[in-house]
Amino acid sequence: MHYGADYNPEQWPEEVWPEDVARMQEAGVTMVSLGIFSWARIQPSEHEFDFAWLDRIIGLLHEGGIAVDLATATASPPPWATVAYPEMLAADENGTPYWHGSRQHYAPSSPAYRGLAAALVTKIAERYAAHPAVVLWHVNNEYGCHLNIDYSDAARDAFRRWLQRRYDTIDAVNKAWGTMFWSQRYSSFAEVFPPRHAPYSHNPGQLLDYRRFTSDMLLECYRVERDIIRAAGAGQPITTNFMGAFKPVNYAQWAGELDVISDDLYPDPNDPESFREGAFHGDLMRSLKPGTPWLLMEQASNAVNWRPTNAPKAPGQLAAQSVQAVARGADGILFFQWRQSRAGSEKFHSGMLPHAGTATRTWQEVVALGRELDALPDLPADDGSARVAILLDWENWWAIENPDHPVPLDYLSLVRGWYDAAHRLHVQVDLLPPTADLAPYDVVLAPHLYLLTAQAAATLRSFVEAGGHLLVTAFTDVVDEHDRFRPGGFGTQLRDLLGVVIEDFGALVPTESTAPGQQYAQVAGEGIAFAGSLLAEEVHAVDAEVLARFEGGRGDGRPAFTTAARGAGRAYYLATVPDQAGAEQLLRQVLAGAGVDPVLPGLPPMVEAIRRGRLLTVINHGADEARVVVRGRDALGGGEVDGVTLQPFDYALVLTDH
Ligand code: GAL
Repeated sequence: MHYGADYNPEQWPEEVWPEDVARMQEAGVTMVSLGIFSWARIQPSEHEFDFAWLDRIIGLLHEGGIAVDLATATASPPPWATVAYPEMLAADENGTPYWHGSRQHYAPSSPAYRGLAAALVTKIAERYAAHPAVVLWHVNNEYGCHLNIDYSDAARDAFRRWLQRRYDTIDAVNKAWGTMFWSQRYSSFAEVFPPRHAPYSHNPGQLLDYRRFTSDMLLECYRVERDIIRAAGAGQPITTNFMGAFKPVNYAQWAGELDVISDDLYPDPNDPESFREGAFHGDLMRSLKPGTPWLLMEQASNAVNWRPTNAPKAPGQLAAQSVQAVARGADGILFFQWRQSRAGSEKFHSGMLPHAGTATRTWQEVVALGRELDALPDLPADDGSARVAILLDWENWWAIENPDHPVPLDYLSLVRGWYDAAHRLHVQVDLLPPTADLAPYDVVLAPHLYLLTAQAAATLRSFVEAGGHLLVTAFTDVVDEHDRFRPGGFGTQLRDLLGVVIEDFGALVPTESTAPGQQYAQVAGEGIAFAGSLLAEEVHAVDAEVLARFEGGRGDGRPAFTTAARGAGRAYYLATVPDQAGAEQLLRQVLAGAGVDPVLPGLPPMVEAIRRGRLLTVINHGADEARVVVRGRDALGGGEVDGVTLQPFDYALVLTDH
């Protein structure tokens, strides 16, 4: 179990370093991430490298028994670099550059940036590949953060090359994008530009490909650095830090390229429901690389600096959130950052060691957490505890949020709606791409797979035929991988499986200022009564049983929720977006049909229970005391456990016979 933080010793005089190491030992720190923003310090000018200071601090940490997660330092190029090579600056939709003076201002496709980054990483890797302190490599930092999409000339040139590789001919691009529309036909790759500022809607196929290209350019940057590290003879695992479900970067596609998944997580301490975000992050990280423990690479010990208002964490909240990650498969809890900065825009961001010193609640909680993590027994990575999978697909995310649709849909919040419903029902879930192996699961939720490939449709069909229970929700199977309608209407690939035909999407106006009955559609059936929003599709149940219908409004009496037995399994279709109560009602029915039970029965909604092999973790995130029936042995102390009473932010770590 790793414990530690980003460590930025270059922000401090060297006299402070020995005290840092001593304090790290006191806090139980085992590993720090070093050098993430050190490019300017390591390379003060193009042909000058200074590693003496880095040698000294790595040596000091090593002597102190603290391991190093060594960064490649490429996330924030120094001013000399962008002055010498202004073409490496990223640009916005208008072509206006993002200047240095902040961070992460580089154009990922720029040959100048890549050249300088490669030279730097080569030096670092060659120097430290065999250093015994280095146990992990930290490539770049939060790829795509701040600057989600780059429209620079470097991106323009790289996009043309990317298209040529993908499509071979410009005619294939024309066909994929449907450029006969609005006279958009291209006669050569040289006529194609990034979707820069334009008078009206861009071509949706181009927008989708630009998203793919953006994720691919960042992945190329990662691969270049990773390969340099390997070529230098480094054998340590390599990672780059993810940010939960982050739209610009297709983590499901990237995961195979990382040895260890790592995540940065900053739930708002002021939001009593934000612990579900932590749960979602953890389940996603675990699912990205099944069987391999992941690292919580960054979290805050207390307040952050970047929300409009930055509330402190409540007493105990830090430990509860950290244990939540461990319960979901993390084998390391790290912070941004070790020592609170004394200058710069993050000086109000908390650290493990606060500016106010060690006579602080933060320090006490940090030290206590270090002890607790140290006392944990070795834990298995993941024993496949989840019986339920929720599908999350980046390509669909990009396509479904293209403009000019019946109603704007926020894909992540819709997926989260289902995830949160499962979480409130205390059911353990994995989060998977639609082409994953679904055989180990009893229930699969497939919310809003607007872009559904033939391969994904086949996976869903086989899952049901083999005995799985599948819930598909509105606006699914609408377009192909180029964001074009398929011939023959909507839902063409899943029609037989679901037994429904979709005639129209029935958009519901999402604003408050609309006529009564146009914002919500009431849905009623046995044990079902809720308000649907956003979509109330006109669906014909041709070979399915109707479990609930729309009531009132323009869709009065039409099917809203259907089911069909297929093969050894069952397929459900929901023609709207349920509110919170509705999602829980429907999910309960689907889970009951498949015989899936909660991790523990009878838990209040603000208490969560998670299994990781033999370890059962129960956490009270609510404001009230909770009594939980659980039996086993205390994982920290070893005593018998027969029921626990949990105060707010209390948790129990129990080894069970499961
Ligand atoms: C992360 C970043 C860190 C730090 C942190 C502040 O996005 O990787 O360097 O800025 O946020 O919360």
